[in-house]
Amino acid sequence: MTQATEAENASRAEYLREQINSHNHRYFVLDDPVISDAEYDRLMQELIEIEAAWPSLRSPDSPTARVGSPSLEKFDTIRHSTPMMSLDKGFNAEDLKNFDQRVRKLLQSDTPVLYTAEPKIDGVAVELVYENGMLVMASTRGDGKEGEVITANVKTIPTVPLRLTIEKKSPVPSLLEVRGEVFISKANFKLLNDERMADGQPAFANPRNAAAGSLRQLDSSITAKRPLEIYVYNVSDYRVIGAGSQGETLDMLKTMGFRINPLIHSRVGLSDVLAYYQELDMARLTLPYEIDGVVVKLDRFSDQEQLGATARSPRWALAVKFQALQERTRVVDIIIQVGRTGALTPVAILSPVNVAGVVVSRATLHNEDEIEKKDVRIGDQVFVQRAGDVIPEIVKVITSSRDGTERKFIMPLTCPVCSTKSVRIDGEAVIRCPNDGCSAKIKGNIYHFASKGAFDIDGLGDKLIDQLVDKGLISSYADLFDLTVDELKKLDRMGEKSAENTVAAIENSKQISFQRFLYALGIRNVGENTAGLIAARFSDMESILSASPGEFEVIEGVGPVSAQSISEFFKQDKNREIIRRLMESGVSIQYAGLPSGNRPLDGLTFVLTGTLETMSRSEAKKVIEGAGGKVSSTVSSKTNYLLAGESPGSKLDKAKELGVEIISEAELKNLMR
Ligand code: IVH
Repeated sequence: MTQATEAENASRAEYLREQINSHNHRYFVLDDPVISDAEYDRLMQELIEIEAAWPSLRSPDSPTARVGSPSLEKFDTIRHSTPMMSLDKGFNAEDLKNFDQRVRKLLQSDTPVLYTAEPKIDGVAVELVYENGMLVMASTRGDGKEGEVITANVKTIPTVPLRLTIEKKSPVPSLLEVRGEVFISKANFKLLNDERMADGQPAFANPRNAAAGSLRQLDSSITAKRPLEIYVYNVSDYRVIGAGSQGETLDMLKTMGFRINPLIHSRVGLSDVLAYYQELDMARLTLPYEIDGVVVKLDRFSDQEQLGATARSPRWALAVKFQALQERTRVVDIIIQVGRTGALTPVAILSPVNVAGVVVSRATLHNEDEIEKKDVRIGDQVFVQRAGDVIPEIVKVITSSRDGTERKFIMPLTCPVCSTKSVRIDGEAVIRCPNDGCSAKIKGNIYHFASKGAFDIDGLGDKLIDQLVDKGLISSYADLFDLTVDELKKLDRMGEKSAENTVAAIENSKQISFQRFLYALGIRNVGENTAGLIAARFSDMESILSASPGEFEVIEGVGPVSAQSISEFFKQDKNREIIRRLMESGVSIQYAGLPSGNRPLDGLTFVLTGTLETMSRSEAKKVIEGAGGKVSSTVSSKTNYLLAGESPGSKLDKAKELGVEIISEAELKNLMR
């Protein structure tokens, strides 16, 4: 074997580092990969081998450091060259207006001043130090003056650039100190905690604790396994990059390869900042990561300079916090609620507490395992939280405030509504009432049928449905359409007028879209989204009733579990009977009508594999769907074409086996002409 010289290896290693770092940036920061995972792994493997054989060729920007470095005994401390200050806090729009007044007074400005408004990410502040474009040190904020050196850990974060991309025109700053927030997304936090609990490790209380704990690992290979991300938001000294404002700085940092939060608004006036604060407060629960407020910064550095700082915080910035989403309260009782699927769900009855403007008096405990895991007892002091969805949750029991009077909850063996013996299906965490005649299940199905995303029947609330079922006036949603004014007006708090209104609302709901109709049926595992996917695929109800199970499974976006529930639902005689009765009562489904048959790819199903030449796979999907085609994730006998790029996966073999035609990107374009 011919030996490559050290010089050859050195230049190959340099090439690989550059390639890997750039692919990494494309994948994690720009979300636009151009090579396959397998190709990426090959580049990485080659670099690892060269560096193992020639240790002198290792360099500080080597992506091999992302998998972790040798364990430390303890963290070194470092004095920040410029202190990492904290921010003054405000709590509402009023505080923001006062801040703006103060700023304008200090600037002696009668005209509006410009700000940058940023989400205040609830994570861990870090400083990254780059020398001649190389990440040489990373540290925590610590007390603001001194922090801990966590370089090896920070290097494992894929969105932290190890080397800056420097454009030719702008010179490399010899020293650049950048600050940002390291965090874990809500979804990854949940996965991480699930994994930990499955391993018998204690769960993290919140994403911020999880991020902080992950950064404080002496063994960086542990950090490497944690789903940490970063958004950077400041430089310690703006003079080194020659920007004139915060907005400009963020733009420059972005071109250098840093990840900047896309929700940041630059160069905006007070009224926009106020609107921004409100908008983010509303959007907060739907964001993929936790934020606890908005940071407002004077945009122009000359303005910032003029205002200066106090000992603790700059005068040119304000953190305007949102109301906390967690509060402390007491579990008064634990009861069992029976849902429309028969699931027996334990619910904690709480001492009412105001959580960010909403009075919370109940929290779901999901199931028996969850109670066990969190060790929630009746009488416990707990933290409750409003999270992504509307139903509040118990985050943590404050075990230290127990006094011995707390009682463990025992799951009943029978349905609390109909007394039928409950069942637990193997592998499922939920316990169910198997009785289809259980009034709780009947009511639940009717609530669902009348709800907003379904028939949306005005005035037919849960309380009214309870009465109708309890009085024996209805026992399924199909009975709703037979209700008369005479029957209704005999109920509590029902006058002639409201009875008439209710009957009219029921009548008016009869014109319904296919999607809403399918959703309203209450098929297990079929939400509004899945109902929409099915509705888009079938021309009418008849064709659904005569479909084979496989026809549901091939719908892109419908998983095997939903497909199974759907076909089981339509197989059952009692469900077919109910659908027949709904139709007889005059329910009229509005079909969207399948797309007209004159688009080039109408009726054709494609599967994509490998790296395409000019488009990402998700772009190709859009192109195909735009031309009337369907894109599926698995090759089957229903697949018309396999669109294969470079380094195709196992789908290629499957397509060959099934005799599916394999085409290139160029051939796809031909098909579309
Ligand atoms: S600027 C002098 N911008 O909030 C300016 N901070 O109390 C220093 N934070 O320790 C910080 N998002 O952990 C800034 N867009 C943002 C931020 C942000 C979150 C955190 C950071 C800091 C704390 C300030």
